[in-house]
Amino acid sequence: MAFSADLSDRPIHADLLGEPLVLWRGNGGVRAMSDLCVHRSTALSLGWVRDGEIVCPYHGWRYGADGRCVAIPQLADPTRVPAKARVPAYRALERYGMVWAALGEPRWPLPEVPELEDNAWATVRAGPYRWDCDAARQVENFTDFGHFPWVHPGLLGDPDRPVVPRHEVRTDGNVLHYAIVRPEAPNSDDFPVFANEQSGPPERRSTYELHLPYTIVLRLGWGGTRGMVYFFASQPVGVDRCAGYVVIGRNYNLDQPSRVLREFEDTIFGQDQVVVESQRPERVPFDLADELHLKFDAVAVAYRKGMRALGLAAGDRALSLLPATTRLVMR
Ligand code: FES
Ligand SMILES: [Fe+2]
Repeated sequence: MAFSADLSDRPIHADLLGEPLVLWRGNGGVRAMSDLCVHRSTALSLGWVRDGEIVCPYHGWRYGADGRCVAIPQLADPTRVPAKARVPAYRALERYGMVWAALGEPRWPLPEVPELEDNAWATVRAGPYRWDCDAARQVENFTDFGHFPWVHPGLLGDPDRPVVPRHEVRTDGNVLHYAIVRPEAPNSDDFPVFANEQSGPPERRSTYELHLPYTIVLRLGWGGTRGMVYFFASQPVGVDRCAGYVVIGRNYNLDQPSRVLREFEDTIFGQDQVVVESQRPERVPFDLADELHLKFDAVAVAYRKGMRALGLAAGDRALSLLPATTRLVMR
């Protein structure tokens, strides 16, 4: 995938489940196609877009939005294109400031996040965070409560209060629902990003929707009207590589420079990356017997069960039919 802002009138390259894709803007919107020209397998993403067609940089063959080659300049009649001259074209769409592509028929719609389409909310994007691990490891880390005081002391957790608050996970189709309430970490001087008031013991309610396989909607509330939403999607670049895209919405601090939130996320994701990339195997073991789960790991347990039940666990053939909407394609 890509952030919409990074896809201008130039095509860009993205890898999705090991498939090289080119993303580009055609007349009717964003397009995703194989990034291998059918002639000599050159990257179409090195080419350019003209008149709603993408032009290969090597010999100038032109392709339409459906992946069919429409002109071969070396021919006396460039339009006498053989039927085999085409590349696979995939579904693509743009929403929440991101470009999404699917290699197969989408199994589920994108999550609904009205806050990100509401003008009263400001959005900040962060990432992509490219890690050498399976997208499922990155998703599990995002939802792991036990590590906050250890990996993010002073930012997301307090080492003196390591107990994970009670929470229960409800699974509804491909979506896991759960919430926790915990004492808010203080706003740090470096990153005053949260909305807790200074008076009274601040509490934060975090309400999660984890859309299997790799997308999370997290809503934060402090008991008042101020709200924050984290939209997170991990792009499965390849078996052991992923890229995490973050879009944050909030209805307060509207004038705070995006840089503050972005640097906060860069810090958090940097702290996480070190520990997650050390995990072996690089892919989440979906057999529950393979790692030790305690009660406070309820989300990971539900995630692994759900992924298996839906045929999305690593190794499942179904993984290659990517729910479009659930995968992003990024550069
Ligand atoms: S390799 Fe693309 S036109 Fe020849
Ligand atoms: Fe973390």
